[in-house]
Amino acid sequence: MRGVRTGLVALSIALALTGCKVVETDNKAQADGAPAGPPPPPPHQMRAEMAAGDRLHTTMTGEDLFSNRCGTCHLDWGMGTNLITKQQVALGRPPSMGLLANRDDLTADYVKSVARMGKGAMPRQTRVDVTDAELDRIAAYLGKGK
Ligand code: HEC
Repeated sequence: MRGVRTGLVALSIALALTGCKVVETDNKAQADGAPAGPPPPPPHQMRAEMAAGDRLHTTMTGEDLFSNRCGTCHLDWGMGTNLITKQQVALGRPPSMGLLANRDDLTADYVKSVARMGKGAMPRQTRVDVTDAELDRIAAYLGKGK
């Protein structure tokens, strides 16, 4: 009985010492300037700001309007970008085509139709979300003249 108890005590001490050693190693790594903890997060998504003024007669560019009105889902890391990247890769196209701004196969009419009607996981965008004047510019920007 006593042998077992002594053995358990010895084991506990050994475990406790091992624990201390791990902590010591971590501290040493930090002191050496080695990275500690998880890697930094990806770059923060920055959407263009809405200009003050009449949204029915907007003076903003299609690029800025797209960034502000559609960017939540269609800029880097957006859920639209993620889904479309998967679709484009399945079609044999490069992952960069997940960003609508990189697409060369969109027409202005198609963009406007998807925006107003919605498509699959994309909810339709009302005239409050994006006015006709804003959508015209966004569609021209994404359609690249088509
Ligand atoms: C709430 C998120 C969200 C917003 C806001 C959003 N979209 Fe989308 N969009 C999606 C998703 C998700 C898809 C992919 C839908 C699917 O295939 O299931 C998509 C798909 C599209 C497509 C189709 C691409 C293709 O390959 O057929 C177009 C075009 C599009 N969006 C344009 C826009 C425009 C323009 C706006 C802004 C006016 C906008 N979206 C705003 C989520 C969004």
